[in-house]
This record gives sequence, structure tokens and C-alpha cells, in this order.
Amino acid sequence: MHLPRAALEDWMRDFYFDTAIDLGSSGVQCWSLGELRRLLGITAEELDGIALDDSPSYGGPALRRAIADRFAAGDTDRVMATHGSTEAIFVVMNALLSAGDEVVVVDPAYHSLTSVAEAIGCRLVPWRLRPETGFRPDIGELRALVTPRTRMIVANFPHNPTGAHLTREQFDELLALVDGHDLHLVWDAAFAELVHGHEPLPDPSTLHDRCVGLGTMSKAYGLPGTRVGWCLAAPEILARLVPLRDALTICVSPLTEHLAARALDGADVLLADRRAQASRNLERLEEWAGDNADLVSWTRPWGGVTAFPAFPGVADTEDLCRELGRRHDVLLVPGSGFGHLDRVRLGFGGAEDRFAEGLTRLRKALAERRVAC
Ligand SMILES: Cc1ncc(COP(=O)(O)O)c(C=O)c1O
Repeated sequence: MHLPRAALEDWMRDFYFDTAIDLGSSGVQCWSLGELRRLLGITAEELDGIALDDSPSYGGPALRRAIADRFAAGDTDRVMATHGSTEAIFVVMNALLSAGDEVVVVDPAYHSLTSVAEAIGCRLVPWRLRPETGFRPDIGELRALVTPRTRMIVANFPHNPTGAHLTREQFDELLALVDGHDLHLVWDAAFAELVHGHEPLPDPSTLHDRCVGLGTMSKAYGLPGTRVGWCLAAPEILARLVPLRDALTICVSPLTEHLAARALDGADVLLADRRAQASRNLERLEEWAGDNADLVSWTRPWGGVTAFPAFPGVADTEDLCRELGRRHDVLLVPGSGFGHLDRVRLGFGGAEDRFAEGLTRLRKALAERRVAC
């Protein structure tokens, strides 16, 4: 199996750890262990009581219960905890796909949603979200791409990096499409709990047995360092993941499983804070984009904490992003990792003061370029 280098991860390796201001990540501001303990009342005795043993293959009972109650209509049999949704993507695709299968995948896409299927030898068919239509998904277009050879549809809503989302009506149309064909839907719901002014959609795995839902502690919960994600699916599908899991990671750490379970049980506290911060940042971003309309062209996202703007006159944003990283101490992600050279992924989940400062520095860098041209 040959996996290409992921341009997005290469960029993050170069700039994520060495920049003071994060305008590029796709999650909310992370919590420290101390903050988590204070907010959720996690005591030292509680942590001391955790045996650093293996966890069960499907995840410990408390974590599976917490995930099921929040996302799987209470059914723990339909939950497997994984090492981030990254592991879930890998094992699900390897279990359900074979070389030669046709896979319709949202485009642009987070890298492993395409690279894993491609490495298996599948034929990828892009379902395009187009800048001309504000990246609005078109289910009619998707319907036209599905053929009797299609074995999987891969969707990610709210979408990284555009922030596009489906309406409930479109979601129902998608499920009807799945029902009418011999295929699986992989529904990457990494940003499910980050929607702006809309109700979150249910996980499709609770509505159809050929739907597989993926989730994570990395985005809305601000806990990527737990490396806890999950896969929601019919028990027969989860059983097919076990041999892959046994060869990859065996299980998740009981320590981070415990933290993830406590965070899910106390979700309202964690989410309220970070959603409020992201929503204030989004208002600031809208104002900033309005004030700098000659320099920025964007579509306001419906969900997630990223937007995918372009800068008129900048055909390839890589130099700009490199300059921001090296000279201005700001992480901004070039669109090349998503197949759009002229765009950037701009994350608005971070700390408010830093976010504001990041926008100031970005404006300065854009204005300087304008003068230099
Ligand atoms: C759409 C999407 N899916 C999956 C992942 C993987 O996240 P993790 O492995 O941290 O759960 C990411 C990370 O950015 C993502 O954006």
C-alpha cells in the first residue's frame, strides 16, 4: 500500500509548533489537563485509580456509553473507540473497499478521506464543492455521479476546509440515495457539534445500516491530544474492523479514554465556552473581511471553525503563508493541500486576542504584497 505525503500534515509539521498565532487549525482552542480537571471536577484520586492496562478492543464501557448516549441513540453495540477519527478512516476504508471499487468523495477533502481509498486501488470520483456557488453542496450533482459500480460515498459535513454543510432536506436526500444503491456512506462528522445558527444533524448510522459515522475529540472538544475518536456503525461492520485494529493499535489508552468519557459527560460546559469563542471570532472575521473587501473574498461558513478564503491577485498562496509563518509568526494553511492553490484555510477556533492579532498581521502582509506588485 503506497500512501503519498500529505501536504497539509507537512505544512503543520513545519509551522504548527513554531508559530505563536494559530490562524490555520481546524479545531477549537485546546484545553489543558488542569483546565479540564477544574471544569469537570476530575480529582487526583480519580486519575490515580486508572489502571494503565489495555482497554477493550471496542473501547472501555464508560467511553462507549458516553459516545453512544451522545451520538448513537444510546446503543453501545454500535460504537468503537479509535485512535482519533484518523484510525477510523483507515480501518473503515480498508474493511469496506477493494481495489477497483468506485468511490465518490467530496472535493476538496481532508487528505486521508481520499488517500486511503486511492492507496487501496479504488477509482475516486470527486463530488465538487465549487467556489462559484459558495461551496454549496449539490445533491443533484452527487446523484449523477453515483453509478452501479459505486461502493462508497465519502462525505464530511460540516466540511473542512470550506465550512459548507447540508440542510436537513439534503441530508434526507443523501440517505435516500444510499438506500437506493449497493454502497456504504462514510460520514465524517468531525465537526458535527460546530454549527452556526443551525441544528446539528443526527448521525446517519442511527438511521441506516449502511451508514458509518466518524467522530473525534479533536475538534469541538479541543482535546486532540487524547487521540480519541470513534466509529459508529452496525455491529456487523464494526466486527470487520477488528482484525485491522488488532494489527494497528490494539486499543486506545485507558487514561485518555477516561478523559474523553468525562469530557463527553460534561460536554455542555466545554462546548458552550469554545462555541461562544468561535462565534465571536467568526463575527470578527466577517467584519474584517468586510473592511478589507478589496483584499479578501470569502464565503461565511455554516459549520466547523474554518473558512476557505481567496485573496484577489494571489494566484498561489503558498509564499504568502510561508512568509506569515516565518516573518509574522502566524500559522495559515495554503489551499494547495486541498487542491485550491489560490485559497487558504483560515481557522477561527483559537483564543480571541490572538485571533484578532493574527488578522491584523494577515492584513498587513496582504497590503504589503499589494504595494509590492
Ligand atoms: C475532516 C477530518 N476528518 C478527520 C480528521 C482527523 O482527526 P483526528 O484523527 O484528530 O480525529 C480531521 C483532522 O483535521 C479532519 O479535518
